[in-house]
Order: sequence, then structure tokens, then C-alpha cells
Amino acid sequence: MGSCTTTPPALTEQQRLSMDDLGFVVLERFLSPDKNQRLKAEIDEYLACDRARMPFEFPEHGRLIGDPALMPLITSIMGEGFAFHHLHTARHDAGSPGVHWHHDYEQIPQSNRSHAMVHVFYYLNGLDGTIGDLLLLPKSQRCIWERGVAGELFGNSDIPGSIVIDDLPPGSAVIVNSALLHARRAKPGGTGKPRYFVDSSYCQAGIRWPAYGGLRWRDHLRRCRELGLDQDGVHAHLFDERHFFDGAEAWQRLSAINHGSLMATRNETNA
Ligand SMILES: [Fe+2]
Repeated sequence: MGSCTTTPPALTEQQRLSMDDLGFVVLERFLSPDKNQRLKAEIDEYLACDRARMPFEFPEHGRLIGDPALMPLITSIMGEGFAFHHLHTARHDAGSPGVHWHHDYEQIPQSNRSHAMVHVFYYLNGLDGTIGDLLLLPKSQRCIWERGVAGELFGNSDIPGSIVIDDLPPGSAVIVNSALLHARRAKPGGTGKPRYFVDSSYCQAGIRWPAYGGLRWRDHLRRCRELGLDQDGVHAHLFDERHFFDGAEAWQRLSAINHGSLMATRNETNA
């Protein structure tokens, strides 16, 4: 008598095309109601303890990083062996400010998009047109620019071609190419119904990425391993230090030489 196992599904062909072309895919009701409720309770606890622990140290948040339903989706975008970059968690209460247009692709300096990075935005209470709408500029993942330059120009105003997502059921997730321009536009209302928000991000294997967590990035990865977030080694690739380099140190080195064209390696005043 054979055993029966079920492999969680990868992205559908249509979802893959959406990721490649538009730079995002919406997964309505991705989180089960139970999981969703536990995540919201952990966010309240996290804020009550004044952020004394890292978000991934809360059990449901930690499990979310290697969620069995998510891993095949990320694999279908960037192949096997990818890295976990970071996980943020937040509760946007009524009256929270917006966030200007930006992207979150980690690169020093911004120069190409040879390897994929994605963010997964989780809206635990969904989106309902209050507190903050999600703005996206489809196809902008193909452009290479500094992360905040569009925000300096446009704030969080509409841009030709931009779209607004303001109606999602609870537990929905949006996977975005990290190079996609996005913003949060503050909206009135929402008293008593916070905009609970979690985002986690992943980097394709094959190059080294700027690490998250400042001087403590190795400690964070080690802590994730200690907590068993790699699920008995099945997802050991998520927390492998070899994916990363020290971003702060790299910026320091770059700033010392970042004058004029980086291709100019000689002084050629009158050549
Ligand atoms: Fe962002």
C-alpha cells in the first residue's frame, strides 16, 4: 500500500506571466483564518513588548518565512536554493501616514536586474480603502533607478500607468518583484480595524546580496537556524550566510570612490 503525498502547487502559467510582465501577482485569502489570527495576535504582542524581539522570533511569523504553501511559489519564480532576506511586521492604525514611491531591490550600486528578488506583502485584515491603499506601477521592475528617486519626484501621487489596490479579502498576499515601484497612500477611516501588514523577502541564489540587519546580520541568520525555521534542513538554503555580504561595509568602500564614472580608472585630464 503506497503513501499519498500532496505537493503544494507552484504559480500557474498565468500567474508566472503576470510576475514576468507586470511584476506582481495577487493571491487572495492565501493565509488560513487560523494562521491569520495568530499572526495578528503576534503583531499586537510584538508592539506591546516594544519590539524587544525580532519578528521572526514569534512562532507564526517564523513559520511564515518557510511556509510550505509559499516555498513552491517562490521556487517557480527564482528556482531552487534561494535566500531569505528579511521579514517585517507592522500594524498601521487609523491616521497612519503614507509611504512615497520606491522599490526595494537590494543592490550596491543599482546597476542591473540579472537575479530576482521578491517581496511578499501580507494584508492580514485585507484592504478596504481605509488607512492605506497599495499603489503599484506595473512593468516598472524593468527599470534601473535608485530606490527612492520616484518618491522624490511624485510622492505617492498617481503616475501614468499606476494602479491602486484597495479591495482585498483578509489573509491576502501580493508577491511583487522587489524592483517594482510601489507606494502606500494614506486614506481616512479604519478606526478599530488596523491595517495589519507583514512582508517577507527572498533573493535568488547565484550572486551575493547586501545582507539585512546591519552588523547583526549573521546573528539573525544563526538565530533563524537555532529556531528551526529551516524545517529540519529542508530549507537550509534560506539562512545560508554565503548568499550575503556586509552592505554597510560595501557602501563605505563605494562612497570613497563614487565620483564621476566608476568606469574611469585612470586620471586622463588631457588625454
Ligand atoms: Fe516597500
